[in-house]
Amino acid sequence: MDFHDIKSIKGDINIPGDKSISHRSAIISALADGPVNIENYLFSRDCISTLDVLKELGVKITEDGKKLSINGRGISGLNEPSKILEVDNSGTTIRLLSGVLAGNGFMSVLSGDNSINNRPMGRIIEPLTAMGACVYGRQNNTKAPIIIFGKKVLTGRKFDLDLSSAQVKSCILLAALHAKGVTEINQPEISRDHSERMLEYFDADISYNGKNTKINPESKLKAKDIRIPGDLSSALFIIVAALILKNSNVLIRDVGINPTRSHVLDVLKEMGGRINIKNKRMICNEPVTDIEVSSSNLMPVKIGIDKIPNIIDEIPILAVAAAKADGTTIIKGAGELRNKESDRLKAIRKQFSKTGLNIKELKDGLEIKGDNDLKVKGGTMESMGDHRIAMSLAVLSMLSEEKLIISNPECMDTSFPGFKDTIDSIAN
Ligand code: S3P
Repeated sequence: MDFHDIKSIKGDINIPGDKSISHRSAIISALADGPVNIENYLFSRDCISTLDVLKELGVKITEDGKKLSINGRGISGLNEPSKILEVDNSGTTIRLLSGVLAGNGFMSVLSGDNSINNRPMGRIIEPLTAMGACVYGRQNNTKAPIIIFGKKVLTGRKFDLDLSSAQVKSCILLAALHAKGVTEINQPEISRDHSERMLEYFDADISYNGKNTKINPESKLKAKDIRIPGDLSSALFIIVAALILKNSNVLIRDVGINPTRSHVLDVLKEMGGRINIKNKRMICNEPVTDIEVSSSNLMPVKIGIDKIPNIIDEIPILAVAAAKADGTTIIKGAGELRNKESDRLKAIRKQFSKTGLNIKELKDGLEIKGDNDLKVKGGTMESMGDHRIAMSLAVLSMLSEEKLIISNPECMDTSFPGFKDTIDSIAN
């Protein structure tokens, strides 16, 4: 079955592990004081990049089916790499590991694919330099490849950032483990707090409250086994498909519902989405739930800047929900989308328009004129090699009676390996 042949979904499924938590589980375990077993690690292209780089740094990693074991080497136990550290397409790998490497007394070079080497890196180079590491990048220290001359001891300090980015915050927190004195970070809006939760789980001296995070240096992180919840961002492709397709009802089990990531569910409920949260519990310091979702008649919504960091990865799939909502949805304050795996505002406008959708690209957002009876046109759509654009187009194509081809669909593996098989297993 092609994506555009799917007209209804029904079933009970699990989805792959959370991408953000998987990266952190591997990196923080590598710094722990002993072996860590990780269950439900996301073996996707991005998270495999993190494992590959950690191996280059001397970390022993074994994979056995779905189980991953990482031999923690202690906070300062990494080896100087003998090669350039290749992060491929993964922003989380390059930004978080730069923080770790800044606090190790050796030299390293990090580089990625064309997309990574053109994404902004000044946002991590500046704070790491301010903490005392010597970090340089291409184009006047704004782009990768990055070269890091780490320092064994950095300087703790207060950062009042003008950007709300979990990757930047996490980079600083990981460097701060090696700093003298407390490090404090303030961001204009709340960004995802998985690093804080995992560092706390490993007994780090960290406190966090909304936009403010404080961490003290650490000599040791206590190794503990980890179970990773399903990725809410991946679940969203299934959730929106169930909402917009007729006669659909899906139960997705064991999904992470961290409040710094879950606003998208509130947005969809506000749009009229029939979404039920069941069996909420805590696993390894992260809230987890089961989510039941059924076909719904959607209404348009307005989204402003304050919640954008919370839903930053979900805007492409929210645009699909908006396309099926009667009226105009307006999303503003989302300029950061231009700095992702592709310029997502442009990609959404350009590719979605090809299907006949009325969509306007704003400087920092989108205006989408939706229709409950939407039928999208077929044709060839470009994924731009961006996994979230590709999966959003796949869901959009389910509203088409015509053949809709998505270029480079393999990029879906970046965050959701087996996306097509999962959808096929519940398709009617
Ligand atoms: C991520 C943070 C977000 C998000 C990315 C993953 C993370 O980026 O878009 O997919 O794991 O910390 P920013 O923090 O740079 O906005």
